[in-house]
Amino acid sequence: MDHLQQRLAAVMSAPHTTTTDWTQSLPVLAGSQVTLRELRHSDAPALLTMLSTQEVARFISPPPTTVEGFERFIAWTQRERAAGNYACFAVVPHGTDTAIGIFQVRQLEPGFATAEWGFAIASAFWGTGLFMDGARLVVDFAFDEIQVHRLEARAAVLNGRGAGALKKIGAVPEGILRKSLLRNGEYLDQALWTIIEEDWRAIRIAPGIRVH
Ligand SMILES: CC(C)(COP(=O)(O)OP(=O)(O)OC[C@H]1O[C@@H](n2cnc3c(N)ncnc32)[C@H](O)[C@@H]1OP(=O)(O)O)[C@@H](O)C(=O)NCCC(=O)NCCS
Repeated sequence: MDHLQQRLAAVMSAPHTTTTDWTQSLPVLAGSQVTLRELRHSDAPALLTMLSTQEVARFISPPPTTVEGFERFIAWTQRERAAGNYACFAVVPHGTDTAIGIFQVRQLEPGFATAEWGFAIASAFWGTGLFMDGARLVVDFAFDEIQVHRLEARAAVLNGRGAGALKKIGAVPEGILRKSLLRNGEYLDQALWTIIEEDWRAIRIAPGIRVH
């Protein structure tokens, strides 16, 4: 079975109907502070400035180190979106057209029932509420548009800010993935943080309620 046939079979057998519109082009998602939109080729210089700093890149897979590297990354995100495997949104604060971060969602199994998300935002915008605003939009997109059932995130145990952000959005720590991230020649432990669709719907109805 080739890739397309596998994907079709997975979609046909999935418990939910998977919408495919987002694979043509990502929707524009508007929050109170940010807009999320598809990455553009022209975002490469801004993303290099915003995401390749030591503090942002410390606990994540190394971002590209050149504008050309980001351009190749952006082209790859568009190919993967068109193939229905992955979505990557630029985080654009209201009143600007500058991408200051990204949110990514990728399928961990055909049909997207289990998916993984990740995020990085320029450090000048940490603690401003932009993360929560964008994260709500992306998690809604994952559960409502691409029919995710279980959304996983991996955060290095040493990444207190990443863990704090995940806890705040309502993710639950399920366990430790020992020595699972190679960073600067050292294997780091990561925590597995998850949001289940039912939990998210409960959080959405009563935003003050935490599920843990
Ligand atoms: C992860 C990231 C997107 C979060 O955005 P942010 O704006 O920093 O997030 P917020 O400030 O809204 O939330 C972080 C929370 O963690 C808390 N926190 C900060 N340092 C912490 C620490 N060492 N231990 C525990 N919690 C911590 C903050 O106080 C905050 O909670 P609060 O709002 O209740 O005070 C951003 O920090 C980032 O881009 N980091 C680099 C890339 C990265 O690590 N990605 C995550 C991979 S899982």
